[in-house]
Amino acid sequence: MTDYLVRLYDLPVFEAEARVAAAGIMVRRAIAPEGHVVLDWIRAHFSEHWVSEAARGLAQTPVTTWIAVKDNKMLGFACHDTTAKGFFGPTGVDVAARGQGIGDALLIATLKGMREAGYGYAVIGDPGPIAFYQKRLDCLEIPKSKPGVYAGMLRAQKDGPIPG
Ligand SMILES: CC(C)(COP(=O)(O)OP(=O)(O)OC[C@H]1O[C@@H](n2cnc3c(N)ncnc32)[C@H](O)[C@@H]1OP(=O)(O)O)[C@@H](O)C(=O)NCCC(=O)NCCS
Repeated sequence: MTDYLVRLYDLPVFEAEARVAAAGIMVRRAIAPEGHVVLDWIRAHFSEHWVSEAARGLAQTPVTTWIAVKDNKMLGFACHDTTAKGFFGPTGVDVAARGQGIGDALLIATLKGMREAGYGYAVIGDPGPIAFYQKRLDCLEIPKSKPGVYAGMLRAQKDGPIPG
């Protein structure tokens, strides 16, 4: 999958932001002391590759790993500036919580965080379900960006393929 470019100065309104908040789901930056809980959750639901990337987001100030939480339970996460500066991803939502707008709410919160950090554009690196991003964003395919920054990446056999 090639990378995609998003114009951060031209973000649309995401109605999921309000919908998710009304459902009592908080989307916010993770904080350092809960980092191990966040990483254990990502390990249980996704892959060690994504644990490595989210850990990078947790190590930054301000933290660039975002989480969705309800009743002290994590439902999803999204990151930026993990594998490369200016990159959005990875992101993932608990299978049981999908289809409620949480993925959208995490996406827009993280993109706004990137805009506030001073970026003009975000790169969605190796996006997997591009249709998810194209639903809300007018994103542009970046030619010759496969395998891009992930070229030659090591994969532990136990990790299996990256979901997406
Ligand atoms: C992609 C993902 C984060 C979406 O989370 P979600 O909470 O279900 O998404 P939302 O409920 O906010 O969906 C927003 C819209 O995108 C659509 N959508 C969701 N997942 C989609 C997918 N995989 N492909 C195409 N469209 C998708 C929804 O139908 C919805 O559209 P609608 O409002 O018109 O009904 C989630 O499916 C996931 O964790 N997938 C596995 C990990 C992954 O692939 N991550 C992305 C690669 S980094």
